[in-house]
Amino acid sequence: MSASISLHALIATIVKQFEQAGLVFGHGTATAHDEACWLVAHVLGLDVTATLPDMALDTAAQAAVASVVEARLAQRQPLAYLLGEAWFCGLPFRVNQHTLVPRSPLAELIHEQFRPWLDAREHQTLLDIGTGSGCIAIACAVHMPWLEVTGSDIDADALSMAAENASRHSVAQRCNWCLADVYDGLQQRFDIIISNPPYVPDAAAATMPEEYRHEPAHALYSGTDGLQHVARILLHAREHLSAGGMLILELGETAAELQQQLPELPWIWPELEHGGEGVLLAAADVLQRHDHAIKQWYQQRLQSS
Ligand SMILES: C[S@@+](CC[C@H](N)C(=O)[O-])C[C@H]1O[C@@H](n2cnc3c(N)ncnc32)[C@H](O)[C@@H]1O
Repeated sequence: MSASISLHALIATIVKQFEQAGLVFGHGTATAHDEACWLVAHVLGLDVTATLPDMALDTAAQAAVASVVEARLAQRQPLAYLLGEAWFCGLPFRVNQHTLVPRSPLAELIHEQFRPWLDAREHQTLLDIGTGSGCIAIACAVHMPWLEVTGSDIDADALSMAAENASRHSVAQRCNWCLADVYDGLQQRFDIIISNPPYVPDAAAATMPEEYRHEPAHALYSGTDGLQHVARILLHAREHLSAGGMLILELGETAAELQQQLPELPWIWPELEHGGEGVLLAAADVLQRHDHAIKQWYQQRLQSS
């Protein structure tokens, strides 16, 4: 370790180490450079969202950074787990092994208050199914400060983290956390239902990069075609949405499978400017009109499984 090194030189060294080790990104960053900047800024207490100054680092600062770099290289955990923090929709969230690392493209829609797809000001209540760290529910509460939000999950440890994150962002009074299996136990109707559910086909687990193996399997995998959770969300959405409400669902690459299985449904697929794919919007009246087709599809799935 040299007596003094510039921050930019240190970042360049880390980028080389990350690239040579073949690390996989995709848990909040897309490149070795972005991840190295985030790591260094977090460890040194610098503003993660600003351009990093090219300051000189003493040996203590270098050692602090080196220990996280070594852990990232040795353990192949997502950086967010090593730091205990991830960023979503411009906000920091505490995360741990019970919560998926936030990275949903739904952030873009939340940031825009769901414009032009709906006028969020006309809505009061929102349900986030499979809330994990609470990132989606809490970002909605922060960016739309009139909303009452409910986050549900089957993982009680994730819900504890969500509650902690809500307090951190001073929205705890407008957030409810429910231990629920999809809608089970939820009596109320909601104006907006949003979800980034598990949607990876089970067989993909065999080829997932090491980084993804540190995340809870129940947050990622959803049956042979990846649609097990999506099917349950769609089947009962109509009964849990208010009149004039909207379902907003992330399906990623599994969107193609749904379109193939239910081609007659007039889903809206917004184009996302900041990357990501497979976000579906369905208004309550569309779900109502196609209720029979959705039920039939669900029954066929049950029979063929
Ligand atoms: C893809 S993660 C999304 C987490 C968070 N919303 C995000 O975007 O980072 C899916 C979440 O659904 C939860 N989950 C899995 N099965 C569930 C079920 N049957 N009912 C409710 N939540 C479930 C998992 O525990 C996990 O937190």
